[in-house]
Amino acid sequence: MLSQRVEKALNDQIRVEAESSQVYLSMASWAEVKGLEGISQFMYKHSDEERMHMLKLVKYVNERGGHAHISDLKAPKTDFGSFQNMFQELYEHEIFVSNSINELVHVTLEEKDYATHNFLQWYVAEQIEEEALARTILDKINLIGNDKGGLYLFDRDVQQITVESAAAANPEE
Ligand SMILES: [Fe+2]
Ligand SMILES: [Fe+2]
Repeated sequence: MLSQRVEKALNDQIRVEAESSQVYLSMASWAEVKGLEGISQFMYKHSDEERMHMLKLVKYVNERGGHAHISDLKAPKTDFGSFQNMFQELYEHEIFVSNSINELVHVTLEEKDYATHNFLQWYVAEQIEEEALARTILDKINLIGNDKGGLYLFDRDVQQITVESAAAANPEE
């Protein structure tokens, strides 16, 4: 059984993952309207992944005798200014999510819930990879600057920038 405190903390994370999915869905839609096809596809895929993160938590809470709560969500913004700014916001959002996961892991230790602590290690590893991916993309964006040809190639190639290639480019991770 989950303690009430762990169940509440897991439910809070369910909301964070759901809101993350909405944030990236909004980014996908913005990019699509701007004609940034590759970036848009990247964000749609990222949105799906966040929904998967949320579902994994829902299943876990219910399997452990808790009740996963599906709540209303904060609406993401609809305009991201520039694609450079959008990826900066993605990076900052992933850092926010990492902090949220760390807090959750901390609660499981205080509650001596080692099963949930173990379950959450997947999320800890995932956040390391997602932060590395976001940093790799920001580095590429910095190289492009305001070069239109560079943006064209970036939009074409961004879907190929996977978590695996980011991990390879950041071996210290
Ligand atoms: Fe996530
Ligand atoms: Fe994420």
